[in-house]
Amino acid sequence: MQTLGVHMPDSCLVTTLALSIDPESIRRVFGRLHPVLVHFPIALLIVAGMVELWRLILRRDRPSPTALTCCGIGVMIGLLAAASGWINADAETHSARLTQTMEWHRWLGIGACVLGVAAWTCGMLARNPSREYVRRWWCFLLFSAAGTVGFTGHLGGNMVWGEGYIFAPLARAFEQLDRVPAQPAPDRRRLAPAGTTLIINFETQVRPILIARCVECHGESSAKGGLRLDELYRAFDGDEALWSISPGKPDDSEFIYRIKLGTESEDRMPPEGSPLTPGEIGILQRWIAEGAFEGVADE
Ligand code: HEC
Repeated sequence: MQTLGVHMPDSCLVTTLALSIDPESIRRVFGRLHPVLVHFPIALLIVAGMVELWRLILRRDRPSPTALTCCGIGVMIGLLAAASGWINADAETHSARLTQTMEWHRWLGIGACVLGVAAWTCGMLARNPSREYVRRWWCFLLFSAAGTVGFTGHLGGNMVWGEGYIFAPLARAFEQLDRVPAQPAPDRRRLAPAGTTLIINFETQVRPILIARCVECHGESSAKGGLRLDELYRAFDGDEALWSISPGKPDDSEFIYRIKLGTESEDRMPPEGSPLTPGEIGILQRWIAEGAFEGVADE
């Protein structure tokens, strides 16, 4: 009786906890495991490909058992990664400009799984000396799966870190090489027509907020969500319908929508730290209402 008395509250706690976790949050957690899971198929399929390639060079017959094991485990975790990625793509917000990369990433990832399953099946069959001819298929499918999973990972990386993230630190050196001397950089600033009077001064009122609160993640080295706010003209690249800043229309701007969200929203910007003050939000709103300019063109 005594023990029962001690255990009752525990089991009640567990039941309460179990009842208060809804299936949706478990699905979201599984989706968020995607960035963890993806590394297994990438590494395992590429290692399997390298091991098998080495075996081809050594002219050994039959598939390498190591490659088969790596491929098998890689494909199994790969299927989990694809499932979690599918959930994540729908559950997490992402910017419209990433939609196309996202679709390529989604279908190449699934393609890599299909190739991996096919490779593994052929590899298992090719272990039997009487089916030696299947070995060619095993190699072909395995190399294709390794290549596809590598490229899929690359697209995934581009979405999270921004395109060209890895070599960005070297980019400056290359830019230096390309530079034609004595030619000033073109002025790409968004300037209002000469003679316009702007109430908000971009340099003294807006840029300091962007630098203090946004550029860490939306700058040269990270460009989260594909958005850069350090060189403002980049925020007005490409299809106008996808710009996060709609000049003249603060209320239609993703930019304003995000900074006005409360701290309980996952989409709020900045995602960490204190929200912008009402004063700062007001400045940014007025700045966009005026046309989101960086200054006024010279006469
Ligand atoms: C700690 C990093 C971080 C900081 C700081 C940050 N952001 Fe973001 N931002 C992100 C990430 C990550 C994404 C992409 C995921 C998403 O869309 O929520 C993003 C996406 C966005 C988007 C959507 C992009 C698009 O094209 O749809 C906007 C707009 C945005 N941020 C504005 C801002 C503004 C304005 C600030 C400063 C007040 C800011 N962010 C500060 C990390 C950050």
